[in-house]
Amino acid sequence: MPRRSPLITVMANAAYKAAKGLCRDFGEVEQLQVSRKGPADFVSSADHKAEGSLVEDLRRSRPKFGFLLEEGGVIKGEDSSNRWIIDPLDGTTNFLHGIPHFAISIGLERDSKMYAGVIYDPLRDELFWAETGIGAFINSKRLRVSSRRQLADSVIATGIPFKARASHPEYPTMLDMVAGETSGIRRMGSAALDLAYVAAGRYDAFWEFALSPWDIAAGLVILREAGGIVTEVDGRDQMMSSGDILASNGELHNDLRNLLAKATDSSAK
Ligand code: IPD
Ligand code: CA
Ligand code: CA
Repeated sequence: MPRRSPLITVMANAAYKAAKGLCRDFGEVEQLQVSRKGPADFVSSADHKAEGSLVEDLRRSRPKFGFLLEEGGVIKGEDSSNRWIIDPLDGTTNFLHGIPHFAISIGLERDSKMYAGVIYDPLRDELFWAETGIGAFINSKRLRVSSRRQLADSVIATGIPFKARASHPEYPTMLDMVAGETSGIRRMGSAALDLAYVAAGRYDAFWEFALSPWDIAAGLVILREAGGIVTEVDGRDQMMSSGDILASNGELHNDLRNLLAKATDSSAK
């Protein structure tokens, strides 16, 4: 196994440390489910604490890099070519409801391209990581996308639009058609882990609309380095700005893209 570079080590250590707090708070949330006040405020403070810890650690190691943070927004750095893109807690709804599926996502953008990424699932102790040109790994094992070629054998992940659902009237038809042509659909509630799972060959593909850059930044590099392909749902490649994403093992990309296009056409009729 290749040794983790100093850069990945810095990212992984920041994630491990922030994860300790998140796991403690997740234990608390499970208790709060039954309380009258509910866990919402508590979760939002857990989220902010995790982000604070990540920023502090990353800044200590790379003082000049900038940040794009889900909670804290943009922090300009002296070094204009390197920027961390961070989601301190991806899968907030799961966390809030005591569902054990969430992650920390840290991406490093270099010269406007995603260069490295770490996605850490603390409850399973799974660290998905990749650096451009070096490959993608889960803990110390190399990651590879699946080799399935038939939609009929594939398991596809998705995110069901909620806030943006009015802008995607075609989505229910997509869901229906993909369900009819594949082995099944999963909606687990963490886009970062959805991408990591395609990279790991657990899912064969994933699509979702209206994501934010911090949901996908790290996952894009991990998936590419694992041999996968990622485009927008309509095949364009501005995923970071549109938030629309179709990620796959490569083999199924065109078939799934055509199926989603067919669903879009048929829902417009
Ligand atoms: C959400 C998750 C979810 C996706 C949402 C995201 P959050 O991120 O990634 O899977 O469907 O669109 O907003 O709010 O848990 O960080
Ligand atoms: Ca997110
Ligand atoms: Ca989040």
